[in-house]
Amino acid sequence: QGAVRYEAENAVISRGVAESNHAGFSGTGFVNYDNAAGSYVQWTVNAAAAGAATLRVRYANGTTTGRPMDIAVNGATAAAGVAFDGTGAWTTWQTRTLTVNLNAGTNTVRATATTAGGGPNVDYIEI
Ligand code: GCU
Ligand code: CA
Repeated sequence: QGAVRYEAENAVISRGVAESNHAGFSGTGFVNYDNAAGSYVQWTVNAAAAGAATLRVRYANGTTTGRPMDIAVNGATAAAGVAFDGTGAWTTWQTRTLTVNLNAGTNTVRATATTAGGGPNVDYIEI
């Protein structure tokens, strides 16, 4: 099974807003996290089989300050404090890749900001 793209603007957003004012996004926009720790986006994703999967997060951070996030899968932290460093501009999008374990079938993936700056702008995940 190839990677499937899940847009952030179609996911569950807690303390953030879907916007489209910085070019280069996929779909209809991206999520602008509120500048607060605890803001998150949660996707529901499908896996054909249980096991390790490659998770890609596409983001932009137009500041020079990192915007780390915890990545949780099915409610458990899978990767803590993943760095989302500055990309140079809000229109410059980069992809971070990590490996997570999924159950067969439906899973949740949540990316939660851990610092007062909030998360980066997030375009989508692929998994
Ligand atoms: C700017 C930018 C937003 C971004 C925000 C931030 O307001 O336009 O897209 O989310 O900075 O610093 O988080
Ligand atoms: Ca923001």
